[in-house]
Amino acid sequence: MTRIVYVNGDYLPETEAKVSIFDRGFLFADGVYEVTSILGGKLIDFAGHAKRLQRSLDELAMANPVTEDELLAIHRELVRLNEIDEGLIYLQITRGAADRDFAYPKDATPTIVLFTQSKPGLAENPLARTGMKVISIEDQRWGRRDIKTVQLLYPSMGKMMAKAAGADDAWMVEDGHVTEGTSNNAYIVKGNTIVTRHLGNEILHGITRAAVLRFAREAQMVVEERPFSVAEAKAADEAFITSASAFVMPVVEMDGQPIGAGKPGNVTARLREIYLDEMRKAAV
Ligand code: PDD
Repeated sequence: MTRIVYVNGDYLPETEAKVSIFDRGFLFADGVYEVTSILGGKLIDFAGHAKRLQRSLDELAMANPVTEDELLAIHRELVRLNEIDEGLIYLQITRGAADRDFAYPKDATPTIVLFTQSKPGLAENPLARTGMKVISIEDQRWGRRDIKTVQLLYPSMGKMMAKAAGADDAWMVEDGHVTEGTSNNAYIVKGNTIVTRHLGNEILHGITRAAVLRFAREAQMVVEERPFSVAEAKAADEAFITSASAFVMPVVEMDGQPIGAGKPGNVTARLREIYLDEMRKAAV
């Protein structure tokens, strides 16, 4: 089955979808994106992703070519056309095509592209049972990581550094403190306390993070939103990451050293279960 994608108002086979070589997403990484998961053919936390998308666009003075209702309809239509049961939808909006100039063009029409990725077994990921290994690397990204832009080269490099070290991902570190994973938010657990970096320009304001922290507090867990060091992570009882594609995923090793018992912990397992249960119920 040929995948059907969405480009600027049209649903097309992926082989027929085209974007200009002058698109500022291509030339300047002048674009923002969202990744929303699909479970049971329904969208997980669509409203959260739509809200963050608008914030990213506003921060860059970029026009939104669609309303939230239109965006939801496009997501649903792509899920239907591609018969997705479990997987992801990628959405990208760029400032559009214009002659190359560093200043934002005045009259460019934004480009909007969406495509699905079928991932059967997304929720039953075997990594949730074994846990991930991470390495720590210096955070060399730009200073506005709260805007979800398509500038993902350093995170890609980080992922390659992790692979080369035999690990699954890298946690990025600034001034001795963990910011986040290459494509996820990072957490440690000590006793009954969950620690994760506070919101600011240094990290992406994860949609999964917001839901997981809400569920943790509702379950009477203590949450501290503050920076934590690499040493603190290595001495933690548990560690985990969150993202729209991994949900809540245990981390069992950092820089070759086991974290806690070196296997997925109870707090992480419980949060993963609560998150998946609650978000499936609220899916649209
Ligand atoms: N990444 N931090 C970074 C740097 C991210 O790229 C992501 C998401 C997150 C988690 O955000 P959320 O919970 O809203 O998915 C944190 C997506 C999944 C990606 O790039 O594929």
